[in-house]
Amino acid sequence: MLKFEDVALGSASAFLPATAGAESRFAAGNAFRRVTAEDKRVINSKADLNQLVPFKYKWAWEKYLAACANHWMPQEINMSRDIALWKDAQGLSEDERRLVKRNLGFFVTADSLAANNIVLGTYRHITAPECRQYLLRQAFEEAIHTHAYQYIVESLDLDEAEIFNAYHEVASIRDKDEFLVPFIDALTDPSFTTGTPASDQKLLKSLIVFSCLMEGLFFYVGFVQILALGRQNKMTGAAEQYMYILRDESMHCNFGIDLVNQIKLENPQLWTPAFREELHELFRRAVDLEYRYAEDTMPRGVLGLNAPMLKEYLRFIANRRCQQIGLEQLFAGAQNPFPWMSEMIDLKKERNFFETRVIEYQTGGALSWE
Ligand SMILES: [Fe+2]
Ligand SMILES: [Fe+2]
Repeated sequence: MLKFEDVALGSASAFLPATAGAESRFAAGNAFRRVTAEDKRVINSKADLNQLVPFKYKWAWEKYLAACANHWMPQEINMSRDIALWKDAQGLSEDERRLVKRNLGFFVTADSLAANNIVLGTYRHITAPECRQYLLRQAFEEAIHTHAYQYIVESLDLDEAEIFNAYHEVASIRDKDEFLVPFIDALTDPSFTTGTPASDQKLLKSLIVFSCLMEGLFFYVGFVQILALGRQNKMTGAAEQYMYILRDESMHCNFGIDLVNQIKLENPQLWTPAFREELHELFRRAVDLEYRYAEDTMPRGVLGLNAPMLKEYLRFIANRRCQQIGLEQLFAGAQNPFPWMSEMIDLKKERNFFETRVIEYQTGGALSWE
């Protein structure tokens, strides 16, 4: 199903975007011509991509700094209570165990998809060095997330083959990934370049699918579920890991939305009525797929949650994502049934919510030299 084995580095010069032609390559690569902020574009820039400054997209640099200040590692979180609870035959209900396994079944491969999409796809096509700087940090965070899910699977001594193959073997998970893969393949195809209205729209569509529908929607049933367990004082180590991941992902989603809006600003001709209608259709399909995943992971009510509540939440989030990128909302009147999720997203680094994190430290971004 996935095609990442066909990794090609392409023929792009290290100094110039893949879209730069021979003439512009000479002009922009000329050492006598200094890069100015005005030369920069998020896509299709002809300026030297090795010069981080002068900054033009300060929002991207600020997100890079904020992401570094939020650094964490999975092993810092104590999993002993989770392990004891999982081993205790009376510790969790069958529905709760199914939920945990299906939940991990999606996430253990989802963040590898995300990382591959950034490293092998998106990164090549984004021509603003400060945005690339954030994407590099984001790619490392996706590695940390995959590590965190693997660490939970290992800690609980789950059947690795079952969990890591769920994206092939469990229909509700496979359907989500199969929805995403064409948009990832579009960008990772070594022959794909931007520079025409059709190819620029293709890139923009993939960026929207990735940030608004994958990171911004497909993760949320899973986040609600594990955090709901944590709120009942169950699986608190896993819940704490998910809280840090949620915080990271919410920044990924916001960065992606800023990126999309900047591309729209610089290329308003891409935002046609037909394109917006196509996006709306993708949003509808994504909400439907995520709702089916909610039903499959929770065939009955569990932890005070049920699939219809998740449907309302997904509609609420989809409206928010539409609004964030300047699309009409799709689901009039949808309300947030989980206001506590907003508090989780705003988690401050210092807060040790479930009191499972054993190491506290400051990263370089948070040090004071006064
Ligand atoms: Fe992630
Ligand atoms: Fe992410």
